[in-house]
Amino acid sequence: MNVLIIGSGGREHAFAWKIAQSSLCDNLYIATGNAGTARVGTNIAIKPTDFEGLSNFCKENNIDLVLVGNEEPLVKGIVDYFESDSSLEKIKIIGANKKGAQLEGSKDFAKNFMIKNNIPTAKSETFTKESIQKAKEYIETLSIPVVLKADGLAAGKGVVIAHSKEEANKTLDEMLLDEKFGEASSKVVIEEFLDGIEVSLFVLTDGKDYVLLPEAKDYKQIGEGNTGLNTGGMGAVSPVPFVTKEFIKNAEETIIKPTLKGLQNENIDYCGFIFIGLMVVKNKAYVLEYNVRMGDPETEVVLPRIESDFLALLDATSKKELASHSIKISKKAATTIMLVSGGYPEKYQKGKLITGNQNLPPNIIAFHAGTKENENQILTNGGRVIALTALANTAKEALAASNQAAKLVTFEGKYYRKDIGKDLF
Ligand code: AMP
Ligand code: GLY
Repeated sequence: MNVLIIGSGGREHAFAWKIAQSSLCDNLYIATGNAGTARVGTNIAIKPTDFEGLSNFCKENNIDLVLVGNEEPLVKGIVDYFESDSSLEKIKIIGANKKGAQLEGSKDFAKNFMIKNNIPTAKSETFTKESIQKAKEYIETLSIPVVLKADGLAAGKGVVIAHSKEEANKTLDEMLLDEKFGEASSKVVIEEFLDGIEVSLFVLTDGKDYVLLPEAKDYKQIGEGNTGLNTGGMGAVSPVPFVTKEFIKNAEETIIKPTLKGLQNENIDYCGFIFIGLMVVKNKAYVLEYNVRMGDPETEVVLPRIESDFLALLDATSKKELASHSIKISKKAATTIMLVSGGYPEKYQKGKLITGNQNLPPNIIAFHAGTKENENQILTNGGRVIALTALANTAKEALAASNQAAKLVTFEGKYYRKDIGKDLF
C-alpha cells in the first residue's frame, strides 16, 4: 500500500516509524513531516489544509490510504472533501468527517453530545456575548476554581482555570468581548472544576466497531509539579497504573459505547481515532474532552506498545472490518520526555543545532517533533523539538532511560521536565 500521513509533529513521526515497519507498506509519504519522518519516508511540502494539493498528490502517486494526524484539516473537512470527489473514491482516509470532528472543534457541541448521551462530564453551561450577564451570574453559583473554555480550536490555549471569581470574569470578558481567540471564543463553555487524576483513552473505530489502544497519561504544564502554562504536552507514560481491567470495562460501558452509539444516532459515519480525556474523581471517570485524533506526545508511548501491524489495523478500519480484528499490546512500559526550546510555550528561537541524538542507547526511540534537516545537520524548528521514548520491562526503568537520553541530546536553550511519571510510581 502507498500511504500518506498528514502532519509534522512527534505524533506523525511515531505513525511513520510504525507504518514503515509494516510488510504491507510500499511507499510512505508525510505532508509536511520533519527531519525524523524523512528517515522512514518521503516528506512532501504540501500543507495539511491544502486539500486540493493533497488530493492531486494522492492521485499522482497512487495513494491507497491517508492518515490524518492533526485536527485542523479534520475540523476544516478534509474527509468530506475527499469523499465528495469521485476520482478519489478508491483512496481510504482515516479521520473524522467535518460533522464528527465537531467533537473536538466545538466544546459546546461536545458538551451537548455528552449530555444527550448520558456520558459523565463536568456540569457546565455555554454563553455568548449576548448572554454575558447570565454567564457572570452562573460563575457566582460555582465554587473556585472555575473552568472557562473557548468553544473552538485555540491551539491548546483555549482552556483557562480561574482561581478567583475576578479572574473568571476577566477571562470571560477577554474571550467574549475582546475576542481573544477570535471566532473560537465567540462562545464560551463555563464548567465546574473536577479535582482528580487525568488519563487518556484512545479508541479507533470504523463507525460500527472499535479497538481500544493502550491508555496514556500526559503532562501538559511546562513546569515541574504541574505548574505554569499549558503546553501541547511535555511527556507521557503508558500503561497508567490505576487503569485496571475493571476501570476499562467501566469506561467502555459508561463512556466508549455510549459515545459510538451517540455518533450513530447523529448519523455520523466516524472512521478514525477518538481520544477521550478523562478526569477520575473518587474512582469515577468523567469526560473532560474529546479529540478526533491521537494525542501528542501520547502517540509516542502508545504506538511502541502495539506489537501488531499498525497498517493492517488502519486497513481493517478503512474497510469497516474491525469486528474481526484485534491487536496485541506489549506488557512493557513506555515513557517519553519532550525536549523543548527555551521560552516555549511562549516565544522561542528556532534553528539551533541538535547534537547527541546519533548515538542513543538501543532502547531509545527519538521521535522528532519540531526539527528540520539542513546540510546534514538537524536543527530545531519548533517549540517541542524531540520526544525521547523508552520501552522497558518496568516504568521505572523506562523513565530512567528517557531521562538519561534527555541529558544526552542537546541544543541551545534545551528544557525538559525531570518529573515525568514521578507522581504515578
Ligand atoms: P480540555 O482541552 O478540555 O481537555 O482542557 C485542557 C486541560 O484543562 C485538561 O487536560 C485538564 O487538565 C484541564 N481541565 C479541563 N476541564 C477541566 C475541569 N472541568 N476540571 C479540571 N480540569 C479541567
Ligand atoms: N497531549 C495532548 C493532546 O495531544 O491534545
